[in-house]
Amino acid sequence: MEQHYSERMAQDLEQIEHYLGDLCRAGERYADLQEAMEYSLMAGGKRIRPVLVLETCRMCGGDPEKALPFAAAVEMVHTYSLIHDDLPAMDDDKLRRGRPTNHVVYGEATAILAGDGLLTAAFEQLAAAELPAQRVVDGVRCLARAAGPEGMVGGQALDMAGEGRALTRSELEQLQSLKTGALIAAAVQLGCIAAGGSEEQLRNVTCYAQALGRAFQVRDDMLDVTSSDEELGKPVGSDRVNEKSTFVTAMGLSGCEKLMEQLTREAVDALERFEKAGFLSWLAWEMSVRNK
Ligand code: IPE
Ligand code: IPE
Ligand code: MG
Ligand code: MG
Ligand code: MG
Repeated sequence: MEQHYSERMAQDLEQIEHYLGDLCRAGERYADLQEAMEYSLMAGGKRIRPVLVLETCRMCGGDPEKALPFAAAVEMVHTYSLIHDDLPAMDDDKLRRGRPTNHVVYGEATAILAGDGLLTAAFEQLAAAELPAQRVVDGVRCLARAAGPEGMVGGQALDMAGEGRALTRSELEQLQSLKTGALIAAAVQLGCIAAGGSEEQLRNVTCYAQALGRAFQVRDDMLDVTSSDEELGKPVGSDRVNEKSTFVTAMGLSGCEKLMEQLTREAVDALERFEKAGFLSWLAWEMSVRNK
């Protein structure tokens, strides 16, 4: 079964890379804007969010191919968030996805514009999906909300405002649920919407993603302490340098390990009503032991 799931994951990744690559090659090129967008988008992230879109769509009875524009859109928004997250005014990091960060290569102005470009183009992607109009509208609203001031951007604002201060556990939970959780939840919701899933399915996949998203940020905070630049493809120790409160500063590495396991169980339990929950359950466990 495991073998079967990792093969399916490889197929999903191939489809996603192919789709994103085609997108990058289409259209006009102005100065170095499109090159900068492509540089970060095609740098080989884990693609966990687009995989969640495709596989949630499949689990809810839809055709994953039809969900590819939704999958691309969430990865474009995520990549933009990383480009801006690395800027000197934010985390000031110089390595991302194993490459020098966007602003290091193209300069700050182009990096800001590359982020703006990816964010905007993501919504063009959503709008152009070949799905019933109501699903497209729901998809646009879902991603807009998750990416915006009441989602990822709001979380980034809390993250910046929290630098240099010890956040309480509940402040930390709120920060993470916006900064990281919102886009991961949007990914499964987009998959469910693309499939024309029911309200109940939407609620259940959202519960899965909320637990998965928390686990994902816990692991991200752990790796900032335990990994290496080479393995992670981004600078370890960034949180300490920026005096961030993280799950590691709040509960230590062994507390994080325990929380990870508890959250992964919670995620898997949320899928109990689905017949074909095997892949997403496997993925949650894989993510809980990821090293990058
Ligand atoms: C990193 O996200 C930023 C967080 C929200 C924790 P990922 O770990 O998914 O980064 P990539 O896409 O694989 O580079
Ligand atoms: C950033 O969180 C989450 C985003 C919205 C980009 P981090 O600042 O912890 O992400 P990394 O560790 O730089 O990838
Ligand atoms: Mg950050
Ligand atoms: Mg960062
Ligand atoms: Mg981090």
